[in-house]
Order: sequence, then C-alpha cells, then structure tokens
Amino acid sequence: MDYQTKMLTKNDVEEAARLIRQGECVAFPTETVYGLGAHALKKEAVAKIYSAKGRPADNPLIVHLHNIDQLTQVASGWPREAEVLMKKFWPGPLTLVLRRKQQVPNIISAGLPTVAVRIPAHPLALELLERAGVPVAAPSANVSGRPSPTRASHVLEDLGGKIAAIVDGGETGWGVESTVLDCTVLPFRLLRPGAVTLEQLRQHVGVVMARVETQHVPLSPGVKYQHYRPKARVVLFVGSAVQQAMTWRLAESRHRKLNTVVLAYSENITAYENVDTMDMGSRDDLQQAASRIYHLLREADRQGYQLVLVEGVEERGLGMAIMNRLRAAAAEIVTT
Ligand code: TXA
Ligand code: MG
Repeated sequence: MDYQTKMLTKNDVEEAARLIRQGECVAFPTETVYGLGAHALKKEAVAKIYSAKGRPADNPLIVHLHNIDQLTQVASGWPREAEVLMKKFWPGPLTLVLRRKQQVPNIISAGLPTVAVRIPAHPLALELLERAGVPVAAPSANVSGRPSPTRASHVLEDLGGKIAAIVDGGETGWGVESTVLDCTVLPFRLLRPGAVTLEQLRQHVGVVMARVETQHVPLSPGVKYQHYRPKARVVLFVGSAVQQAMTWRLAESRHRKLNTVVLAYSENITAYENVDTMDMGSRDDLQQAASRIYHLLREADRQGYQLVLVEGVEERGLGMAIMNRLRAAAAEIVTT
C-alpha cells in the first residue's frame, strides 16, 4: 500500500498512538535508534512491518513495553536473575529473550518459542507506549540490510511512502541498538552486543557469548543476514598497523580513481593527507563513535563516495557493539 507518510512531532504523540491502535506502522525515536512500531498483538499490523522493511520472515522482532506489568501479556515466565536485570537496566537499552505467551502472534517471534522484550528509555517512546496502551513490536526503522536510523530523515529516506507516520524526536542518544540477551538458559547468552555492555551485565549475572556460527539452529536468526550496509563498499581495518595499511590502500584507490572517504578517530584525522575524512569522535569516548557511525555510513552514500575506509575501534565496552556493526557493514576486513 502507498502512504502519504505523515511527519509528526512531540505534540502529536496521541495521533501516533491512535495509528498504532488502528493497526498502522509508525516510526518513533528510542534512546538507541528509531524503531518501526506496530500493535504487537495484531498479526496483520505486524505483517506490515515486515513488508515495509522488506524484512525476511524468519527474523523475529523486539516487543516494546511501557512498564513491567505488561510483561505477563507477552512472556510466560523468566528466571529470578532476569528480574535483577530488569530492575537495574529498564527502562533502557537491554532486550531480554524470554519464554513466549501463546497469544503473542507467531509472526513476531518467527515461530520461535521465545519473545524478545524491552522497555525503552526515550521519553517520546514511553509516552507513545503509554498512550497506545498495548505492547508494540518494533525493529529498527530502516530498509532491511541498511544502516539503522538515528534521525527522522534517515527513516524518511528508507521508508517514506511505505508507512503511516514518523514521529520526529531529533537525534537518538546511543546510536547503536540494544543489547540482546537470551535469558532462557543459564548462564544467560549474549546474542547481540549493544548499548549495555557485557562488563555491565557481568556485574549482576553470569553471561556467556553466543557463538552463533557453531549452532545448528541460529539463536538469533537476524545475525545470518547482511546488515548495516551502505551502497558504498566498506573496508574495515583492524590490528596494530591500521594507518600504514590504510595509506597503502589509499594509494591504490587513488590509482583506480575511486571516490574515497576515510572514517577515523579525531586524534588520527590529520594523519590522512590528500583524502576526504569524516570524524568518528575521540578514541577516549566511544559514545561519540557509537552515536555517529550509522549517520556517517549514510552520509558517505549521500555524498557519492564509492569506497569507505574505516578505522576499527577497541573491542571492549561499547566498542564491542560498534565493531559488531562495522564487521557486518564491511565487504572486506583487513587485519594488519
Ligand atoms: O535498540 C533496539 O533494539 C532497536 C530499537 C528500535 O528498540 N530495535 C532493534 O530491532 O534493533 P531489530 O529488529 O533491528 O533487531 C532485533 C534483534 C535481531 O537480531 C533479532 O534476530 C533479535 O533481536 N531477536 C528478536 N527476537 C528474538 C528472539 N525471540 N530470539 C532471539 N533473537 C531475537
Ligand atoms: Mg535492525
């Protein structure tokens, strides 16, 4: 169906909530990225999310709640250790995978016996969830495979004409998605690193890394698809001699007349001469890189670059989430 996508503001949250109750899809800001929301208990509404995004049917969605009392509408049980995390991190960027209630439509969980849930911390998201009064399924509001949206303009670029409305709440905070944690086994399994770090989780509960590639059935079905890719070719550099390797690659790209941009830490920008650069932020504050990375990948496309060379970040704390996304965005990873 073709829509005249409405641009809404913080004053129109009631209209957004009404559209969701009626079974339409509405994009809204969360503290991580923009989500594409629909009534989680109406399967026709949830189906519209999959078709607007072009999302594969076997990649399940996160259900967003306004408060912990709503949990019993979607989940049938959870261990005590999960409650510790809910108390500590909700509202916030932590998604818990729990046993699913029968009445949650199959389409949300892509047939899995589980459901992923979180209470987001963004005031507009919370207001929308409260006014809608129902659990809201919401994946990131991008076309499947593209970088996640951190601004309303990114959503419009991808989903304009395909969804009923977008609530513009400015730039999102974290810029990378929530951490996804499987709480149906002990110790809990980290399915996707995100804004809540592994180190933070381990202060409260035991967590192991899910090594998805070794499983017969993927634990988090989404991980097998291409993600976060701009049209430009992304090459990610990791290891101890990143700048040297990057310099050689730049010489080659110049020879081949490829329109190239380098994404580098603020501290390193001046090391790259005679090439366009974009600033990822300081190496001492990975929140800057997290909040900019999707925007910079989209900017590279908007400015017509063919090749994007990216400095890898240190893989701990928030760096785990950033590198997880960059590895997926990259067509090639150069280990120096
Ligand atoms: O920060 C976020 O989490 C954002 C905002 C909008 O809340 N949402 C988001 O949704 O990133 P999405 O659909 O882009 O990513 C959801 C991830 C996917 O990797 C999916 O496979 C996994 O969560 N997932 C969802 N339900 C699951 C389940 N029942 N079991 C295992 N993994 C699940
Ligand atoms: Mg996504």
